[in-house]
Amino acid sequence: MVIKKVTDYEELSKKGAQFIAAQIIMKPNCVLGLATGGSPVGTYQRLIKAYQDGSISFKDITSVNLDEYKGLDGTHPQSYRYFMNTNLFDHVDIIKENTYLPDGLEPDSEKACTDYEAIIDGVGGIDLQLLGLGHNGHIGFNEPNTVFEKNTHCVELTQSTIDANTRYFNSSDEVPRQAYTMGYRGILSAKKILVLVSGSAKASILAQVVNGPITPEVPASILQLHPDVTIIADAEAAALL
Ligand code: PGA
Repeated sequence: MVIKKVTDYEELSKKGAQFIAAQIIMKPNCVLGLATGGSPVGTYQRLIKAYQDGSISFKDITSVNLDEYKGLDGTHPQSYRYFMNTNLFDHVDIIKENTYLPDGLEPDSEKACTDYEAIIDGVGGIDLQLLGLGHNGHIGFNEPNTVFEKNTHCVELTQSTIDANTRYFNSSDEVPRQAYTMGYRGILSAKKILVLVSGSAKASILAQVVNGPITPEVPASILQLHPDVTIIADAEAAALL
């Protein structure tokens, strides 16, 4: 693991965008594994600027996202499809048909997950997977568990995740209790992984991810096994490293 310590969220976003822009320049038709949440928002803003000033183009990019709430339509403001459209896709020249998320409206969990596995395989492998880190160590919606679940699956969100995500809804009751998430196979098969971690609330879990045992109780600890992981952490998040 390469750990880049930066001062604050601003610098984290700048470095995150440079990392992804470099990938796009090296391979303009690459497959990006993308993430939602607060961590990548500043990075996406900088990527939009880089597109606007002509430094990069997304026209040949394919994207696969990590996860989607089960039961939310893509037009629901808290769906991850809506997040990706408004935070990135609507502002760059990516072809929407080449952007994939699990189908939150598919009520049959088995079908939703099998379909997404076929999509992950169909895009021919992820070149760069972007990740945030949950307060409980989750990546995507792979919550702390007794096993590392290999494939896309339907998860029951933990209370810690529901609490963390309540800030986006009117109340905690509105937060969906289930989500579809890419499993560890999809994430770990990416050629490169970039993790963005910001804020003091992530310091303790980040230290466990980097220095603790590899265990499904700390989902991101499995990243220790991947040959090409870069973590960009701001000073608050890196305080215990
Ligand atoms: P955050 O979420 O970027 O909003 O902190 C990260 C995550 O839960 O994966």
